[in-house]
This record gives sequence, C-alpha cells and structure tokens, in this order.
Amino acid sequence: MNVIVVNNYDRMSEEVAKLVRGQITEKPDSVLGLPTGGTPVGVYGLLVEMGKRGLDFSRVTTFNLDEYVGLAGDHPQSYRYYMQTNLFSGVNIKAANTFVPNGVASDLDAECEAYEKRIKQAGGIDLQLLGIGTNAHIGFNEPGAEFGTMTRVVDLTESTIEANSRFFASRAEVPTKAISMGMKSIMQAKNIILLANGGGKAEAIRAAVLGPVTVDVPASVLQLHPSVTVVVDQAAASKL
Ligand code: F6R
Repeated sequence: MNVIVVNNYDRMSEEVAKLVRGQITEKPDSVLGLPTGGTPVGVYGLLVEMGKRGLDFSRVTTFNLDEYVGLAGDHPQSYRYYMQTNLFSGVNIKAANTFVPNGVASDLDAECEAYEKRIKQAGGIDLQLLGIGTNAHIGFNEPGAEFGTMTRVVDLTESTIEANSRFFASRAEVPTKAISMGMKSIMQAKNIILLANGGGKAEAIRAAVLGPVTVDVPASVLQLHPSVTVVVDQAAASKL
C-alpha cells in the first residue's frame, strides 16, 4: 500500500482529484468506481471544476459502489441523487455511462447479477475510489463480509445506520438494506484509492493498513491488492 498523508481535507481532495484526472487523461475511456458519503464531496467538486477547464468525461464510465434498497433515484438521500448533484450534472459525462445499482428493482438479486455483468462488459474498473466506515467497511461490506462476495443485497449494521442517520430527518427513515458491490468486485479493480479524513477514521485506517487481514476489518483486504493508494489527512493518519 502506498500511503500519502496530507495536512487536511482540502489537500486530500486535491490529491485524489489529481489522481483521477491523471487516470482520465491517460485513458479517456476510463471506467471509474465511485463512493458516496461525506468524504468524496470535495473530490467531486474539484472534478467538476476540472471539467469546466476541459477535463473530458465524455468517454468515461462510472459504477457506484452501492445504493440503498427502497430509495428511488429521485429520492434526495439516494446515492443516484447524490451522484447527480455532486458530479454527474456538473461534467460532460453521458447519463447512459453512469451506473448506480437500482435500489427499487423488482428483482433485487437479478439487479445485482446484471450490475456485475455490466462492469464486466465495460472491461472492469480501472480506478476504484473508496471511503471507509468507522467500522472499516468498504462499500457496504460490513465486518464479517466474506472476501469472495460479489454485488449483493446486504443488511446495514446498527453503527452504519446510526452514522448515516445524519443525512435523514430521523433514524427511522434510514434504510436498513443496501445493494453493495462485494469484496471481490472491489478487489477486481485494477487500481484502488482509499480516502479518509478526520480523527473518527483513525482507528479504521490503522486497522486497515497495519492490522491483520481479516473479515472483521473489511478494508484490511486491500493489503492483498497490488495497487492501492491510501490518501489520508493527518487526523485520519494519527494512529499510523
Ligand atoms: C458510500 C460507501 C461507504 C462510505 C463510508 C464512509 O458509497 O461506500 O462505504 O464510503 O461509509 O462514509 P463517509 O465518507 O460519509 O464518512
């Protein structure tokens, strides 16, 4: 793992945005794997600015890591809506090239299978960005998720529901299930960037980078991947 420690959130966002720009510049038809959440908001903002200055997304394809079960794409807390707002509407990406699992599909298992197929048809993910949960989840692969898992319906843990309730009017409104790319789907990406900021992520980052590789710390699986860059601010790096 290549660990880059930067001063603060803004530097983290810049570092990651530059790496994404490098990927798109080198391979204009790149396939990107994308997270939602608070951490990458700054990265997406910078990518939108880069797009305005000419970074071309017209041949880029994206696959999001996850989506809540039960929320349609026009629900303000859905991950499709988040992506539209934070990135897709601001760059010249083709809507047809943006994939987010459909959380209201009538057959969720078929949706998961089709999602994996679409990733394969696109040639696999060139660059996967990942956030990390305080319990070290990646995507919604919670502690205990087997390393062989592919895209599937998962139950969210209490701690994840609690953490995500900040985005909803009340805790009762937070969905309890999601579709998530699996551990194996993530590990199949050619390159991975894990980004984290803030002291709340310090223990998760320590366990992921320095701890044993175990299903109890989902992000620790990344130690087994040949091309992972971890970009963290000083607070998130404080236990390294
Ligand atoms: C979201 C996702 C999650 C988040 C993680 C961190 O698509 O896959 O694993 O990356 O929960 O979320 P934030 O960035 O809000 O702390």
